[in-house]
Amino acid sequence: MSLPAKSTSPAVILTGDRPTGPLHLGHYVGSLRNRVTYQHDYKQYIMLADSQALTDNMDDTGKVHRNVVEVALDYLAVGIDPAKSTILIQSQIPELAELTFYYLNLVTVARLERNPTVKAEIVLRGFERDIPAGFLTYPASQAADITAFKAALVPVGEDQIPMIEQTNEIVRRFNRLANQDILVECKALVPEIGRLPGIDGKAKMSKSLGNTINLGASAAEITAAVKKVYTDPLHLRVEDPGHLEGNVAFIYLDAFDPDQAALAEMKAHYVRGGLGDSIVKKRLELVLQEMLAPIRARREELAKDRGYIMQILKDGTAAAREVAARTADEVKAALGLSYF
Ligand code: TRP
Repeated sequence: MSLPAKSTSPAVILTGDRPTGPLHLGHYVGSLRNRVTYQHDYKQYIMLADSQALTDNMDDTGKVHRNVVEVALDYLAVGIDPAKSTILIQSQIPELAELTFYYLNLVTVARLERNPTVKAEIVLRGFERDIPAGFLTYPASQAADITAFKAALVPVGEDQIPMIEQTNEIVRRFNRLANQDILVECKALVPEIGRLPGIDGKAKMSKSLGNTINLGASAAEITAAVKKVYTDPLHLRVEDPGHLEGNVAFIYLDAFDPDQAALAEMKAHYVRGGLGDSIVKKRLELVLQEMLAPIRARREELAKDRGYIMQILKDGTAAAREVAARTADEVKAALGLSYF
């Protein structure tokens, strides 16, 4: 019996992060652990979006530079395998900037101003009328990142869906102009548990809110963070019935406790009354310490060999550049910009 012909090559994933700080448990739940799974079934590119990070960090380029390595360490420590995933540095692939330059003619300023994520971020950063042009136009740069690799799937948080919509508008407009399907439309892959609240109970764990637990946190930092974890402000005495909604200790246990059966019992007891926060937090501390200890150990080990990390980034970037350069050639040719 002859084997069936090898089926089509795996779908391409493009995902990435702005390297502006070390990654935390929110990133782990929202993207990192999924990427570790995806890498077995897809051709996955993971981009360190350092150029995009500059769109609102021109006053602190050193921070971006430092965090490229920090974020790469986080990736490798959680199990992203450079033999399976291609990790690349955005700024080292000039074809991404080149594509951005052409795509900017396929979007209007009005459309960029209407992008809900850009709009929200402008308010958040207090730009008011002084919006860096690079910031306003970063959706076009994100379209370049995605289309350069002909990615069909883009794992992102909910807040990034407008970027995917805008990318697809650019793709359709370009393909119509070129009269052929050169660029590929993509789909957002939004995780089910996409968002982890901060230790303070705020809706999102985020560096700027100072409510994170970093993947590289020391044992003492984890202990201190668990002490601060927001629970149920109405649960004043142990015998009082406790509430689970908005209770960050239980939300984290839902996400990370490997013994979900015991957790269900603990929740029932808490709701009934008679279970103190200190017991819940003791469990949370144990779960987080056990989960983060091996990640921290791997991270510390890897951090000793910076040369090895840089080689991974160099190789990944070189491989990615070949792909992006092919797309840029096709795009330019379709625009009549090929001469020799
Ligand atoms: N904008 C993304 C973020 O803030 C980072 C990013 C840049 C990205 N280019 C991308 C994500 C392309 C997915 C695909 O997290």
